[in-house]
Amino acid sequence: MSVLNFGSLNIDYVYSVDHFVTKGETIASSMLNVFSGGKGLNQSIALSRAGARVYHAGMIGMDGIFLADMLEEAGVDTRFLIRSKDVRTGNAIIQNDSQGDNCIILYGGANQAVSREMADQVLKSFGPGDWLVLQNEISEIPYIVSKAHERGLKIVLNPSPMNEKIFQIDLSCVDCFILNEVEARALAGDSEDPDILLSRLQEKFPKAEIVLTLGEKGSVYGGKEGIVCQEAYRVDTVDTTAAGDTFTGYYLAGRLEGKPVKEALDTAAKASAIAVSRKGAAPSIPEKDEVRRFHKNIVTI
Ligand code: RIB
Repeated sequence: MSVLNFGSLNIDYVYSVDHFVTKGETIASSMLNVFSGGKGLNQSIALSRAGARVYHAGMIGMDGIFLADMLEEAGVDTRFLIRSKDVRTGNAIIQNDSQGDNCIILYGGANQAVSREMADQVLKSFGPGDWLVLQNEISEIPYIVSKAHERGLKIVLNPSPMNEKIFQIDLSCVDCFILNEVEARALAGDSEDPDILLSRLQEKFPKAEIVLTLGEKGSVYGGKEGIVCQEAYRVDTVDTTAAGDTFTGYYLAGRLEGKPVKEALDTAAKASAIAVSRKGAAPSIPEKDEVRRFHKNIVTI
């Protein structure tokens, strides 16, 4: 069984600011860091660091070769990653405020140059039993989902960032959704109550497993193993970027290994707690051993 992550790769320009810039305002930043990022790349690195064998498919320009290097150093197979001379790599402008929160502007670049031909070429190496992991930062997601479904792949969708493109996908083909409350509301209707959101999602997608992430309130799973709740672990927040991606990668790696949902959620919660205590996207994703050692002296929120 293989895992194919068909996803974005970004150069993240992270500006440390006191507060997020508002309309008409010009503010100074105290630091600029350039990190490897993109939801796809982050999730591949988390999957691989958690012990999964993962293939990353996507596209970068020649300015983003260091992103391919980073994936390879993390043990990710990049044979399906296209390095193109014709496009520039996707990037993200990220403001990181004094509370550790962020806001992000994306430039799609090479991520939006993924074509149907490329998708066909990649998918022909995968078949029944293999897993496909997708986010919403590359082009041709509806096509990739329908072709992967035809080929019998198990489809995991993290519908992030949520926008109108998600509604072009045949969501009945999705076997597992990993999503936050904002994304859940967009799919299931407005409610502040996570239990209501989860049950609406389950009604709407009866064949799918759902993992709803709730930030400081933890996460909740609904699916074949019933309803499983997981608390978040308390840490000093430095930068929340890629916390969700770390959670996704670690959760999926646990499930691929055959771990029960509760154990996979717990490991994912620990891994994402470590990620928020560090700066950056991909560089903040912990190794498996760090996550194993994390169980000491921690408090659940
Ligand atoms: O989830 C975090 C990621 O979102 C960042 O690395 C940024 O590139 C955006 O894709």
